[in-house]
Amino acid sequence: MTMKTSLSANPSAFETECLAVIVFDRSEKDRGDKDKPQVTVESSDPAVLEATAALLATGDVTGKMFEATFLHAPGKIKAKRLLLVGGGKAKTFSNADLRRVAGAAARAVKGKNIRSFAFVAPPSSLPAELAVRTIVEGLYIADFDSDTYKSDRKDQSLQSVAVLSAGDPAKLQSSIEEGRILGDSLNFTRELVNEPSNRMTPTILAERASKMAAEVGLKCEVFGADKIKELKMGAFWGVAQGSDEPPALIVLRYEPADAVGPVLGLVGKGVTFDTGGISIKPADGMEKMKYDMAGGATMLGAMRAIALLKLKRKVICIVCATENMPSGKAQKPGDVQIAMSGKAIEIINTDAEGRLILADGLHYARQLGCQELIDAATLTGAVVVALGAVNAGVFCNNDGLYDRFLKAQTVAGEKMWRMPLDEEYGESIRSNIADIINSGGRQGGAITAAMFLKEFVEDTPWIHLDIAGTTWIEDGKPWIAKGPSGIALRSIVEFARS
Ligand code: BES
Ligand code: MN
Ligand code: ZN
Repeated sequence: MTMKTSLSANPSAFETECLAVIVFDRSEKDRGDKDKPQVTVESSDPAVLEATAALLATGDVTGKMFEATFLHAPGKIKAKRLLLVGGGKAKTFSNADLRRVAGAAARAVKGKNIRSFAFVAPPSSLPAELAVRTIVEGLYIADFDSDTYKSDRKDQSLQSVAVLSAGDPAKLQSSIEEGRILGDSLNFTRELVNEPSNRMTPTILAERASKMAAEVGLKCEVFGADKIKELKMGAFWGVAQGSDEPPALIVLRYEPADAVGPVLGLVGKGVTFDTGGISIKPADGMEKMKYDMAGGATMLGAMRAIALLKLKRKVICIVCATENMPSGKAQKPGDVQIAMSGKAIEIINTDAEGRLILADGLHYARQLGCQELIDAATLTGAVVVALGAVNAGVFCNNDGLYDRFLKAQTVAGEKMWRMPLDEEYGESIRSNIADIINSGGRQGGAITAAMFLKEFVEDTPWIHLDIAGTTWIEDGKPWIAKGPSGIALRSIVEFARS
């Protein structure tokens, strides 16, 4: 997609297939003044206002969030079509809303088989540079579709988009560049997550990681079973041993000369297929477990963005990639595995495999010198029960770190909810024969999984993101297709920037 900015002085003079403008609902419950317009077009261009006046007067356009109304042959406007896209209530319109509204406009345009358009940044809302970056992110998020393997698939991706905004053109151009990097990196992650397990084995994931690393100038090492055993990653190997596909320990490093602040470690769960192992999952819905490597893919995409944005922070990324299979070589319930940290784990349920590979990944990250840790994992069905498909679960052992993360997450506009980590929850993972068990049972399942991980981060400030419910969108929305969401990537990159 080519992407440019243009000053917004008069969007009506801009030649394009379609000019998209936000309309707000400004009606208030007890506003007596019926003469004031209730729905307003977010442009100060007289030709745009003139062209839309008659349509608005009909009352057909409500300004409801994501409502899309096309207007053809719009008077003095150079564009072939005008698109009025609803922004909802003007009063509460946020950065996150702007991202989604831009995306909804893009998907409405694509739905008409139009592949280039211009989006008018609302003049009154945010600082122009942030608004432009946000809009560009929204456009990239909207441009991804997951129907990769349909034999009659047509390329529907956007070819060129212009963002029309007031402001300093040079600064706006770098906002576009930042938005593009975030958007492209997000879609890189979503493509990895979308692949079925026969086309996204640990080996293939590692190949994709090292190809990407070479492209953006990251150091990349990929280790196999021998090194995993040599490092005494008994928890990781315990999962990997049951599969015929070799595991991969992927390590990426971003080490800028001007780095400041603590070394950040990003650790991702890269289970390319989770059958459950000997504690096998029911057949219904098992196909979804191809996306059990989403946490790992998120970290790879985040590293891509961090490198291209040239952030001033040393970052190390570790992805533990493996399948979780039942076989004659697979670990069995009751087995005891010694993790890299030396902790002995009694395997109660082989389907609680994510925490096992992360235990060694997190320990290794600390050994490599990481002073702050973030992990992302499709870790538990229990987080889906607790928070549904709306919020990802955030767990953190350090309030100062959490405050910083929350700020980043708010800028990124990703929905997450903090969950508790009281010591009492740890009681349900005590073992009779070893140090800990790998499943705390049904009660508070997302929390006991996080408590398990906490055993391996010890006192290093750490954030755990359980994205099991939010990584895959079951039903498309006006601003995003069904399929992989890329959740958490933008918050993590924003955090690394701060
Ligand atoms: N990958 C699953 C968690 C999951 C569930 C991800 C639904 C996405 C959607 C994880 O490995 C798992 O199987 N967790 C078990 C843990 C249990 C055995 C303690 C679960 O949540 O049922
Ligand atoms: Mn599992
Ligand atoms: Zn899993």
